Amino acid sequence: MTFSFILNGEDVLVKARSADRLVDLLRERFGLLGPLADCRHGACGKCLILLDGRLAPSCMLPAFKVRGREVITLEGFSQTDEYADIKGGFEEAGLELCGFCDNGRILAVAALLERNARPSRDEILGELSAVPCRCADPETLTQAVAAAAERRARRLYHRARQ
Ligand code: FES
Ligand code: FES
Repeated sequence: MTFSFILNGEDVLVKARSADRLVDLLRERFGLLGPLADCRHGACGKCLILLDGRLAPSCMLPAFKVRGREVITLEGFSQTDEYADIKGGFEEAGLELCGFCDNGRILAVAALLERNARPSRDEILGELSAVPCRCADPETLTQAVAAAAERRARRLYHRARQ
């Protein structure tokens, strides 16, 4: 079937079979390699995307389900001010990510801060549990997201005063 959707801000038209998964469409047709296809059953968080602003595992989504909707991958999100807030917050807290988890972690924090500008420790760790990884301790993760939230709040405050 042929359908259109918005991908990283652009209208795109694609043809896909009903069994095609979104993660494969993004990687193979659009060359977007931010979302990784690893477990393919919603457990690892490496394939996460933002679908209409909410976090979604693209390995679990039949591609046609995004018809008429908005998909943002890490490639698109990395062009935004929100990405700079998150990257800056992570660096400030000394949180280092790797190529396996950076996609999911960054988009998970983006979705969280969009819903909740000042998330609690439990909310942060709850959201980040979508991307399991034992490399970072919970305190560093919490500090990194708090620092990102602070940067975002400052930026929005300055923008509102302009
Ligand atoms: S590939 Fe693991 S959650 Fe999608
Ligand atoms: S899996 Fe990336 S830092 Fe642990």
